[in-house]
Amino acid sequence: MWKYPKDFPILDQKIHGHKLTYLDSAATTQKPKVVLEALQNYYETLNANIHRGVYQLSEKATEAYENTRKHVAKFIGARDPSEIIFTRNATEAINLVAYTWGEKNISEGDEILLTEMEHHSNLVPWQLLATRKGAHLKFIPLTDEGTLDLKNLDAFFTPKTKLLAVTHMSNSLGTINPVSKLIEKAHQNQTTVLIDGAQAAAHLKINVSELNADFYAFSAHKMLGPTGVGVLYGKKEILEDMPPFLGGGEMILEVYKDYSTWKPLPEKFEAGTPNIAGVVAFSAALTYLENFGMENLRQHEKELTQYALGRLKELEGLRIFGPMDISLRGGVISFTYLDIHPHDLGTVLDHQGIAIRTGHHCNQLVMRRYDVSATARASFYLYNTKEDVDILIEGLQKAKAYFDRGSKKGA
Ligand SMILES: Cc1ncc(COP(=O)(O)O)c(C=O)c1O
Repeated sequence: MWKYPKDFPILDQKIHGHKLTYLDSAATTQKPKVVLEALQNYYETLNANIHRGVYQLSEKATEAYENTRKHVAKFIGARDPSEIIFTRNATEAINLVAYTWGEKNISEGDEILLTEMEHHSNLVPWQLLATRKGAHLKFIPLTDEGTLDLKNLDAFFTPKTKLLAVTHMSNSLGTINPVSKLIEKAHQNQTTVLIDGAQAAAHLKINVSELNADFYAFSAHKMLGPTGVGVLYGKKEILEDMPPFLGGGEMILEVYKDYSTWKPLPEKFEAGTPNIAGVVAFSAALTYLENFGMENLRQHEKELTQYALGRLKELEGLRIFGPMDISLRGGVISFTYLDIHPHDLGTVLDHQGIAIRTGHHCNQLVMRRYDVSATARASFYLYNTKEDVDILIEGLQKAKAYFDRGSKKGA
């Protein structure tokens, strides 16, 4: 018996009379008891505002908050905790870079290089920046298989290419991108690199220093942590050179009527009261992942994804998106089934207790590239098992039978 689902109280419930089969972890993961307890413990024993009280409770809350910063730095291999900025989510982390680094470093005529598989969170902020500055967006295209088409990579880099912003792992295709190679290439061209790690940080062992990424953005809620906590990693010298993002309390040193001065990193980028409880509890999520082991997680997801791909291929009329080579993909499988609309499929599966994602997954460029308006998506995490995959397959077979009956009635 795979013991981990037991750590997740939410999984122990019935949906429409069936056991909940949760297959939407790419959207957000469920939370283990230790994280729920850490949240409760924070409010029961530590709650105070941070960085401002001289009393013991505030000092303890500050220490717990700062300990998570150290923990995150260690978890992703950052050189210094001050390179870790807490935001609300990955989206805000990317916007922070677009509004601060972008304002300072992007000028008219400059180029920002993206890929056709970017989540809207790593596309729209750059569109806004490009519009403000008169810069241009360029896109690395996708192969039919669902990987980046890197044949003509050199041609994408010009003296005007100031930024490469690329996802480490696609949330719709599951593709894991060769970010090391891309970072190296970009740096040879003096191009700064932001990696959208919203999916990858949750599933792969990351070392931002070895990768040599300039920025790496991700969200706690996709890796067992609470919602409302995101992380922007940035190289110290780059962050130090950037103007602040949001202005307000706690990010200032001195304030006069017409100007202010800023605190050093990381406070410069953390205006106002942050999600203290969420940040503190995020540390419990990281400990859980460390105990599980990120290599073990990858191995577990590889086995599950391989099994799921094999079983899904048994279903006639089922189209899978993204690479079939398991070394190139994570535990995310997007598919369409016959001519059943993904939303209808999702609803029928929900009535069997199966939670999948349907829609464009904030990846409209991907949908257009493969000429579909939406897909169904099953995504896995450490609490999923082969039995969950079997339940999904059975659910899909039932959905087919349901829609077959419907179409016969309609005929
Ligand atoms: C690849 C990718 N980037 C960015 C995001 C945005 O994450 P968040 O909504 O937590 O800001 C997501 C969320 O699904 C994602 O999958």
